[in-house]
Amino acid sequence: MKNIGIFGIGCIGSIITKYLVQNKSNSHFFFNRSQKHEIRIQNEQQLTTIPIQIAKRIDGQLDWMIICLKEYQIKEAKSNIKQLIHPDTKLAIFRNGIQLAEDFTDITMRENIVETIIDCPTQRTATGDILQLRKAKIIVPKTSIASEFIQLFTNSDLDFTQTTDFKTEQWKKLIESSSIGSIQALKMKPCIIFKDPKIIEKYIHLINEGIAVANSTGINIERSFTEKLLNKLKHYPDSKGSSMLTDRLAGKQLELNAKIGAIVNIALQNKIKIPTTRRIYNSLQESD
Ligand SMILES: NC(=O)c1ccc[n+]([C@@H]2O[C@H](COP(=O)([O-])OP(=O)(O)OC[C@H]3O[C@@H](n4cnc5c(N)ncnc54)[C@H](OP(=O)(O)O)[C@@H]3O)[C@@H](O)[C@H]2O)c1
Repeated sequence: MKNIGIFGIGCIGSIITKYLVQNKSNSHFFFNRSQKHEIRIQNEQQLTTIPIQIAKRIDGQLDWMIICLKEYQIKEAKSNIKQLIHPDTKLAIFRNGIQLAEDFTDITMRENIVETIIDCPTQRTATGDILQLRKAKIIVPKTSIASEFIQLFTNSDLDFTQTTDFKTEQWKKLIESSSIGSIQALKMKPCIIFKDPKIIEKYIHLINEGIAVANSTGINIERSFTEKLLNKLKHYPDSKGSSMLTDRLAGKQLELNAKIGAIVNIALQNKIKIPTTRRIYNSLQESD
């Protein structure tokens, strides 16, 4: 039996909980800023309700702490997380972006941390329920700690992939989601804006600059990736949005440092010129 903590019971923390609690051989502990008594997830006409109790501390030791926070929430939450973990507690990090472990190497050892990529569009309904729009897909590195993490779940409905090229996958997801999301947040419109050739031109610049920055870190993303993303874009419905657009329309803070800001920071460190990315980043920052 393992003791598993889930820190941040928002959209992603709720989805992860839904799959985790199906493994009855483990104990689960929930940590969240505001009080919650249950998780309610709607998915394809099905409602899953999970009663939970928010804990302040636990007696005994956590084997795993699964952290599901937005990039800008981590700083404030970290001292609390530090008090809840033990030197042997393993951490799994669910958040958008790259270099996810770096936020936690001051409170635990790097080898205790698994970074993840989750693809599971999820929104909150007007009544506060979580609306899961698709099956969850999770990518983790091909490492033994990531294999141990997968063992915490018994559910075959959860699609896990282990890859030897995790960093490249992370960068590819970052480049696509940051490029689409930044343009959408700036224009406050979904994919329909990509009908405008001038917007497509901006999109191409963002992708190419993202590839240049990724490659400056030793990743190898081929130029044909741009063509691939343009083809993908053709199949997106006009109404397709992004988390950046959703946050912008709801007047919420953007996760800029997990998206376009992450590319800007590395470009600065590695002295890569990214004029379009910079311009869009500055505009988003001013209006955030
Ligand atoms: N939603 C999606 O579709 C989706 C998909 C893929 C990836 N992601 C990424 O997953 C990460 C998490 O996103 P999310 O959508 O789950 O965010 P979210 O819905 O805002 O959930 C964050 C949760 O963390 C809690 N929290 C914040 N600060 C805290 C603190 N100091 N101490 C304890 N709890 C705290 C919040 O509590 P309160 O209840 O008090 O607000 C909230 O329940 C982000 O990086 C996001 O980009 C999201």
